[in-house]
Amino acid sequence: MSSQIVPLIIIGVSVLFILGIKFLSSPKTARTGNLVAAAGMFIALCALLKTDGSSVWSHGWTFNYTLIVIGTVIGLIIGAIGAYSVKMTSMPQMVALFNGLGGGAAALVASLEFLKDAHGAEPVTAFITVPMLFATLIGSLSFSGSIIAYLKLEGKFEKPHTFPGQNILNGLIWLVILGLGGWLTFNATGGNAVTAFIAMFALALFFGIAMVMPIGGADMPVVISLLNSFTGLAVAADGFAIHNNAMIVAGTLVGSSGTLLTLLMCKAMNRPVTNVLFGAFGSSGGATAAASGIAGTVKPIQADEVALLLAYAQRVVIVPGYGMAVAQAQHSVRELSDELGKRGVEVQFAIHPVAGRMPGHMNVLLAEANVPYDQLIEMEAINPSMDRVDVCLVIGANDVVNPAAREDKASPIYGMPIIEADRCKTVIVMKRSMAAGFAGIENHLFYKDNTRMLFGDAKASLNALVAAVKAS
Ligand code: TAP
Repeated sequence: MSSQIVPLIIIGVSVLFILGIKFLSSPKTARTGNLVAAAGMFIALCALLKTDGSSVWSHGWTFNYTLIVIGTVIGLIIGAIGAYSVKMTSMPQMVALFNGLGGGAAALVASLEFLKDAHGAEPVTAFITVPMLFATLIGSLSFSGSIIAYLKLEGKFEKPHTFPGQNILNGLIWLVILGLGGWLTFNATGGNAVTAFIAMFALALFFGIAMVMPIGGADMPVVISLLNSFTGLAVAADGFAIHNNAMIVAGTLVGSSGTLLTLLMCKAMNRPVTNVLFGAFGSSGGATAAASGIAGTVKPIQADEVALLLAYAQRVVIVPGYGMAVAQAQHSVRELSDELGKRGVEVQFAIHPVAGRMPGHMNVLLAEANVPYDQLIEMEAINPSMDRVDVCLVIGANDVVNPAAREDKASPIYGMPIIEADRCKTVIVMKRSMAAGFAGIENHLFYKDNTRMLFGDAKASLNALVAAVKAS
């Protein structure tokens, strides 16, 4: 392909990437968004492979097409098997793994470039060296950090691992890395440069582990989003180092959208990013706080009583949470919603932005169960009308409906926006016990006069509800 039209193609590809992200912002168009962005990436790859076998990059690499084809086929097979076999609940792990591999690849590209230049006779300018060092550093810490995030999501060493002076030690390691990077910027050739570079690479890998280990398993989606933005920045820096505009555009888009997503998640939890990274949130192990000081009593209810309430309600709002995902109860929820719909009950789903453990967790699960998109209502849109709801079914959700966020200034979640379930006429909370949610705190909602507790596994309780509604 002629080098002259490559820049034009890359502009077109950039538009496809941006459109892809735009489409991803709604569940209705998300699949299209994925396909549009993937098509953009495919076109970019084709445009950058010159058919005459020479390089479109100025760094003198030539393409080995056999290796490229073998790598692509292996990647396609592993990716397709992974995507088809992964369970919906394991999606965050898959994202962590893919992100880590992306970061690792970005670090390897930059490292090869650096080492090639380090062995050359020509002096290398800081303009070229800095992006290479940046990509190596950020890419490798994103790789090792994502692997730890993956393991934490898999339930291995889920708790925050902390020790006194940890942040200071991490700070010192970071300073050594920066020192090595600073030295390498102006001494990028020769044997010492290679040794210093390898030391920096190893320390960056270690730093990724040390950074993520103190963070609790349930905060991993925020960490993955942050590491995802790091991978994007590493890819963009690679683009500068090897003069590849497609990598600059794709990397910048991933970097900026990852950063925005991280900030949005933190805002929805009313916690600063620093609290996620250095706060060891969840180190109490999710222990239930003493119920002292909360007025009211816990009032259990049985499934057939709830079924009657639901069958004669006009408007029902379902608030799904992490417990619904754990119980894999989304199909049973859909069945209940359909059953109520047949009886003329208006059913809506109230979606909190951080319900569950990953961005869009509830949307993904409910979409998998074919719940119509127009029944999914965002928190801000549904809250104003909550006092006109006859029955609110809270299914495996806890923190995202805790009125302590409004009422108790001493609560760690004070100020976090919540779905105001407590304002509904009757609230039915479905969970297995009085155990706390992710934040490890008592929920004031469970003790309110208008709340009844339907104890049990969410899926079993929902199946009992469906049967009871059908029989009523
Ligand atoms: P949580 O507050 O974690 O509560 C989940 C509840 O589900 C628990 O109280 C648990 O009670 C119940 N549960 C677990 N397994 C169940 C089962 N099989 N059947 C029925 N219930 C079950 O969840 P949430 O309300 O969705 O809030 C999400 C929390 O995660 C927030 O604090 C949020 O800040 C945090 N977080 C979210 C994200 C994202 S991006 N979504 C990222 C980081 C942190 P029992 O054990 O008594 O059943």
